Amino acid sequence: MPVTLTIDGRTMPATDGPSLFDYAERLGVRVPTSCQKQGKCKECIVEVTSGIDALSPPTEHERHLKGNFRLSCRTHVSAAEGEVRCHTMRRGQMRIERHAFELPVSRDPVRLEPAVTRDGDRVTIDGVEVERRAGPVHGIAMDLGTTTIVLRLIDLQTGELIAEASFENPQRFGGSDVMSRIHFDTQHRGKLLMRTVAGYIRHAIEDFPVDPTTIYEIVVVGNSTMRDLFFRQDVYSIGQNPYRSITEIEMEAGRRQTTSLITTGRRSLLPVHPKARVYGAPVISGHVGADAAACMLAVDLANERRLVAIMDIGTNTELIVGNRERILAASCPAGPAFEGGAISCGMPALDGAIDTVTARGDGTFNVGVIGDVPASGLCGSGLIDLMSELLRTGWMNEMGRFDEADRIAVDPEHGVFFLESDVNELAQAKGANVAGLHVVFSQYGITFDDVEVFYLAGGFGRHVNVEAAQRIGLIPQLPPSRIKRVGNAAIEGATLALMSRVKREELERMVRRVEHCRLETHPRFFDFFVEGCQFKPVTPIPQVAG
Ligand code: FES
Repeated sequence: MPVTLTIDGRTMPATDGPSLFDYAERLGVRVPTSCQKQGKCKECIVEVTSGIDALSPPTEHERHLKGNFRLSCRTHVSAAEGEVRCHTMRRGQMRIERHAFELPVSRDPVRLEPAVTRDGDRVTIDGVEVERRAGPVHGIAMDLGTTTIVLRLIDLQTGELIAEASFENPQRFGGSDVMSRIHFDTQHRGKLLMRTVAGYIRHAIEDFPVDPTTIYEIVVVGNSTMRDLFFRQDVYSIGQNPYRSITEIEMEAGRRQTTSLITTGRRSLLPVHPKARVYGAPVISGHVGADAAACMLAVDLANERRLVAIMDIGTNTELIVGNRERILAASCPAGPAFEGGAISCGMPALDGAIDTVTARGDGTFNVGVIGDVPASGLCGSGLIDLMSELLRTGWMNEMGRFDEADRIAVDPEHGVFFLESDVNELAQAKGANVAGLHVVFSQYGITFDDVEVFYLAGGFGRHVNVEAAQRIGLIPQLPPSRIKRVGNAAIEGATLALMSRVKREELERMVRRVEHCRLETHPRFFDFFVEGCQFKPVTPIPQVAG
């Protein structure tokens, strides 16, 4: 009996001989590649979730891969029978949008003043001619998240949002958080992380419904590590105390005016116009990166009179408090749990993710699934809903212990379950987020009650059930009218910086005056963390000296 092989949910019998890549083709599963199965591009990675012992041993080409990651073009079935399950790293979705770009948090319409303009048949960037050609002019805003990557294609002459693509960051083979990626990049020569992610972004751009060479500018945001890996910077110093990027070090030494980075389309390895400008928005300090800066731009913090807070939940959670007078920002190493990483049936908020959960009286659940597909995992908002329901029904206590079995079937028909050990991962992520909130607020000298607007951002931030998030103690107990769910504010900010030179300059200016709050050195961070690991409403900030 041959091995039963499942790739991205599609199954067929497999025998020794063809590679997993070959079988993926037979199953109609698209695997990223730029080398046509030669073992060179390193893009055809699959994550094996069961049956890895039934596969051939790793080859020379796979020396950079650890754990359950394999190159599908170098791997074949070696056992006579058994079951192998794996998935490609391109779980994601593409949406063709074609409508005017509108910022969910903006008070005024966005004024279109891009750096790339057309004058007759002359295409210019900041007034400098790059080409003579008729036709449209496009730009891309890109949020390089540790777990998820989002690209937006914008028509720079009309301001129209043409398409949006989001997919898992394939760098996961180098670890799920920024510190392990830094370690990986330092240990392996050849910029493998950068080359792999560039390959995936290239495929996403090629899938857009326009000629890629009409793309003349890309604005990239991301935390300091993600941004700098993409721009081929040495990231070693971001992983060592005092955690500074090369650009920050150079700026402090007076060798540069800004922490932003610029390269060309050609050097970025992307299929855009070779002379396109690729602009990496400025990082703030340490791990507080260009994504936090973009969030500030998205909520118009530079012109904000009210005191507002932004919590951008991700693998690194960004915490920002302030107004036009003073801004304080921190980055919190929460880990990937709320983006579905490190959770047995976790996944990003992409098609197939369970994003809403309600407990029925009989011990089963009603679930909502993103996209018109069967459930394949739980994303952040689904996990928050689920834990809130477990607390409400008494199936889980405040310490995260289950009442009876250590495994809960969320959607048994599609094999989606939740383990008590998953709760530990979420408890730690929550503890780090809450501790970060306490430290930032106390350093600013305010309490939760003082903020007039609390922006809840992040890939799943637009869909989070606020009541559930408050019940499990992920966000403070503020009146719902003060909490605004804004979704991925980082990509909104990147889009603004792409569409408006004025906004980009505002971003550069704002970043220079942000105070960086270093969570890791705060004497009570650990106490706050332990308290925050419990599943109960966030209590007011204990009065401590900053
Ligand atoms: S297809 Fe390029 S390494 Fe496998």
